[in-house]
Order: sequence, then C-alpha cells, then structure tokens
Amino acid sequence: MDCVLITGGTSGIGLALAKRYLADGAKVIIVGRSAEKLGNTLRENPGLIPILSDVSREEDRTALFETVVRDYPDVNILINNAGIQQRLDLMDMDWEVWNKEIETNFAAPVHLCGLFAPFLKDKKDPLIVNVSSGLGFRPFPHVPVYCATKAGLHAFTYALREQMGRHGIKVIEIIPPSVNTNLGGPGVHSQATDVDEFTDSVYAELRQGREEIGYGFTSRFVGRTKAQMESMRGGSR
Ligand SMILES: NC(=O)c1ccc[n+]([C@@H]2O[C@H](COP(=O)([O-])OP(=O)(O)OC[C@H]3O[C@@H](n4cnc5c(N)ncnc54)[C@H](OP(=O)(O)O)[C@@H]3O)[C@@H](O)[C@H]2O)c1
Repeated sequence: MDCVLITGGTSGIGLALAKRYLADGAKVIIVGRSAEKLGNTLRENPGLIPILSDVSREEDRTALFETVVRDYPDVNILINNAGIQQRLDLMDMDWEVWNKEIETNFAAPVHLCGLFAPFLKDKKDPLIVNVSSGLGFRPFPHVPVYCATKAGLHAFTYALREQMGRHGIKVIEIIPPSVNTNLGGPGVHSQATDVDEFTDSVYAELRQGREEIGYGFTSRFVGRTKAQMESMRGGSR
C-alpha cells in the first residue's frame, strides 16, 4: 500500500489528489499551515491524516521531515504541491512578501526533496512529484516571482529526475494550466478548468508513471526540456 505525503492538501489540486489516492486505498497525509483549515478538511474527508506545518519556514520543513521519519516511516511518495501566487508591482518591493513566494514555491520543494531523497530511496516504489505551472514556461508579467519560482522548479525537477534515477526514485512533474482553485485568492481562477476534471486526467497519468504531465495548453510543454537536452548531447552545455 502506498503512503503519500502531500503538502498543501487542504484545498484545490492537493486535496483533489489526496481524495483520489485515498479512494485507491493509500494512506494519505496532508500538510497545511492552518489548523482550522486542516480541521475542516478532515471533517469533510475522514481518513486523511493531518500535519500542521508552514512549509515556507525552514524550521517547519525540518520538523515535518522528523515527524514523518518518527511517526510515518512508511511514506514512499512525496508530493510537493503547496504554493501561493501573488500579483506584484516590481517598482514597489516588500521583500518579506516576495520572499514568502520564493520560500513556499521554490525553497520548500527543493529543501524537502533534499531531506526526503535519502529516506525514500530504500522504500518500495519511491516517488517524488513536484507541481510546477504553465507560467514557468510562459510567464505572465503580473505574477513575476511566481513565474520565476515555477520555472526554477521545472529546471530543478529535470535535474532531480536525472540524479534520482540512479537511486531508483521516480520523479514526476505536474504542469497545471489555469485551474479553478483558491490560488491567488477566491475568485481569481473562477473561469478556469474544473479542478476535478483536471485532477481525473492528471491522476490517471500519474498512476501510469508519466514523467511530465500537462493538461490543455500545458500539454505542449511536456517533454520539451528533455528533447532540447537530447538535441544538445555531444555538443557543449
Ligand atoms: N490553480 C491553478 O491555476 C494552478 C496553475 C498552475 C499551478 N498551480 C499550482 O498547483 C499547486 C496547488 O495550488 P492550488 O491551485 O490547488 O491552490 P490552493 O487551492 O490555494 O491550494 C494551495 C494549497 O497550498 C497550501 N499552502 C500554501 N502555502 C502553504 C505553506 N506555507 N505551508 C503549507 N501549506 C501551504 C494551502 O494550504 P492552507 O492555505 O490551508 O495553508 C493549500 O492547501 C500550487 O503549487 C500552484 O502553484 C495551480
């Protein structure tokens, strides 16, 4: 039986993935930064296991890893899904605000991959899933730091896959297009693709072990980096 750890499992894509793994008989642990939201999610979805952790904080990430090692040593799948999206004016900096997005969307998955890789390598069917974004491939100027964190996460995930392959750990990247969730605040994505429609398609590909998973317009980005790298093999890097 799989044991799945999903960051940002209280709403949106993370919760939709959690429900599907649970329905398939997996043990599913969801991570959120709000005790109230975690409590509400558990009331509506009994069977999920909660961990309170703010993954934008380095000390919380370390504590999260220690909790998993101590209390849930059977975790074999890590899904780095937690993310935030902020509209920012680049002429009006508030570093704390900008850095929150970098810590949540980029530093957290990179740090958690580093913590969990040695732990996962001896598990059965070990898997790391990183959730990037179509905006990491085609930037939208109103959310500049968001786009940069997702472009960085895509590059990191490509390199991670190359290295983890040597240790038997599979690495998958989900590249969502615009999906109707709370991302960016209520209503911002209300005209976007239905989250269940999106997740049904993505989950089926996830179970098939596809390395990169797109949907709608992001399908065109799937395999692009690999093809570019292969065309460069033998040349200078
Ligand atoms: N929706 C889209 O259009 C879209 C498109 C491309 C990529 N994505 C990516 O998909 C992922 C999921 O987003 P979503 O659309 O499902 O949005 P969402 O409904 O807002 O879900 C985001 C989740 O992340 C959690 N989270 C945020 N900051 C956190 C932190 N510091 N520590 C722990 N948990 C944290 C939130 O939990 P709490 O608020 O309860 O703490 C929530 O469960 C994100 O990485 C996002 O960038 C979404």
